[in-house]
Amino acid sequence: MNIGFIGLGEIGTHIATNLVKNKFKISVYNRTVSKAKKFAVKFRCDHKESIETLCKNKKIIILCLTTNAVVESVTDKIIKHINPGAIIIDHSTIDYQVSKKIYNKAKKKKINFLDAPITGGVIGAKQGKSVIMIGGDNSAFQKTKKIMQSYSKVLEYMGGSGQGQLTKISNQIVVFNITQGLLEGLHFANRYKIQRNKLVKVLLNGSAHSYQIAKHIKAILKKTYEKKKHHSVKEIGITLKNAKNKKLRLPCTEQIAKII
Ligand SMILES: NC(=O)c1ccc[n+]([C@@H]2O[C@H](COP(=O)([O-])OP(=O)(O)OC[C@H]3O[C@@H](n4cnc5c(N)ncnc54)[C@H](OP(=O)(O)O)[C@@H]3O)[C@@H](O)[C@H]2O)c1
Repeated sequence: MNIGFIGLGEIGTHIATNLVKNKFKISVYNRTVSKAKKFAVKFRCDHKESIETLCKNKKIIILCLTTNAVVESVTDKIIKHINPGAIIIDHSTIDYQVSKKIYNKAKKKKINFLDAPITGGVIGAKQGKSVIMIGGDNSAFQKTKKIMQSYSKVLEYMGGSGQGQLTKISNQIVVFNITQGLLEGLHFANRYKIQRNKLVKVLLNGSAHSYQIAKHIKAILKKTYEKKKHHSVKEIGITLKNAKNKKLRLPCTEQIAKII
């Protein structure tokens, strides 16, 4: 089966690499064409210079992009050019309402759309051990399960369209709050000139231990951990918008949004 892959960013490049390593035949497209060309040369696969040509004769398209607007504009082009019966798998983190809108637009053309955001970061993606939460039609999930298994350690079907994105936001609320606790602990330790290497040993072995600390250990030691990440700003925005829609208070996350 020839799979179309769009979005060779930090995460997408690792997913596409794992697909190739697992002997899936893929064609890649990236907005910055040079990245797609470089990938195609390195992994001896096909690359296309437009979404239209990528869609030709494809039954599966995988996306790993950035924002609501980007995913919507790219999927509009796919829906226009791909044949009925195709399945689009979207690994970007976006608002679940946008995912549902795309699902409905695709359905009208007999195309299936799965919202399938991932967690586990760049390291998880590189190792082929991402955790993927999927929303959309179960039949489309069953047809594409083997493909996603090739680059994940956990695949969880969450229910109808949008449920994958809502699960991802629930996951991120936990991550924001653990991370904020870590940053405050480091901030306090800095003021009192606590030695980082010794602090890290305590954090890793005591009751504060968490995946976030283990994952960022090098950055904590080099004191580069305090830098902001653009994806987190996007995710906090989506979180608070959807909490407001349900008149839900998330006091800790609201505080983090003020200082991020
Ligand atoms: N990084 C993480 O640790 C992490 C972890 C879990 C989930 N995620 C989610 O995974 C997704 C991808 O993250 P990433 O870190 O791989 O992002 P990234 O490195 O910024 O890559 C984004 C990709 O989207 C493409 N893109 C951006 N704007 C576009 C546009 N207007 N039209 C077409 N393509 C466009 C970029 O193309 P160019 O190469 O041309 O810029 C690039 O291929 C995001 O939704 C993020 O929230 C990220």
